[in-house]
Amino acid sequence: MEVSVLIPAAGNGERLGLGPKAFLRVGGRTLLEWALAAFPEAAEVLVALPPGQSPPQGLRAAFLEGGRTRQESVARLLEAASLPLVLVHDVARPFVSQSLVERVLRATQAQGAAVPVLPVPDTLIRSEGGAYGSVLPREALRLVQTPQGFFTALLREAHAYARKRGISATDDAQLVQALGYPVALVEGERTAFKITYPEDLVLAEALARAWNGSPQAR
Ligand code: CTP
Ligand code: MG
Repeated sequence: MEVSVLIPAAGNGERLGLGPKAFLRVGGRTLLEWALAAFPEAAEVLVALPPGQSPPQGLRAAFLEGGRTRQESVARLLEAASLPLVLVHDVARPFVSQSLVERVLRATQAQGAAVPVLPVPDTLIRSEGGAYGSVLPREALRLVQTPQGFFTALLREAHAYARKRGISATDDAQLVQALGYPVALVEGERTAFKITYPEDLVLAEALARAWNGSPQAR
């Protein structure tokens, strides 16, 4: 797979309160190990770690120091990427199937930028002064996941444009969109959720048991 996998893993996991998520163990392996297992055929894997963090030994990846924000961490990873396609994937999303990776890659090759999304299952409202406010029609809304795929040159240009304009974003597709380039949507996966809050770990442990027991799921 002629693609550079970029893993921003330089966050401090403040909402979870258990230190940097890369080293958090779920089902007997670290979230970083889960993330790497999702890309067994990647020609290059680059991981951004919190500054001062010594890289783990024996993993099939190169490590560099991340920045103060996710966007800065990805910008540093992008500088080091050497292949024409990149997949950017949060270390905080351990359960990514091979079919999800393939869907994103195919759409990226065809269209230059692609992200997995999910419909919003709950009713969405605005909280107006703490009370139930207006309902947002959710049919056109989507939840955005990773891995997100891009032509490397395109994502570099998008990051440079964002830096120049002072744009900050929580994912990479936003920057590509701000540049005026379309981002294709592919079907995401509920299991590719991001571990953010302590409750998410309970779910993750249960999923890890299921996935460890059925390797074909990966
Ligand atoms: N990330 C990063 N560099 C930063 C901040 C975040 O590489 N300076 C990465 C995280 O490691 C994670 C991804 O961006 O893989 C998504 O971020 P999030 O879920 O917010 O993780 P944390 O920032 O670690 O958590 P928190 O916001 O609760 O501190
Ligand atoms: Mg964060």
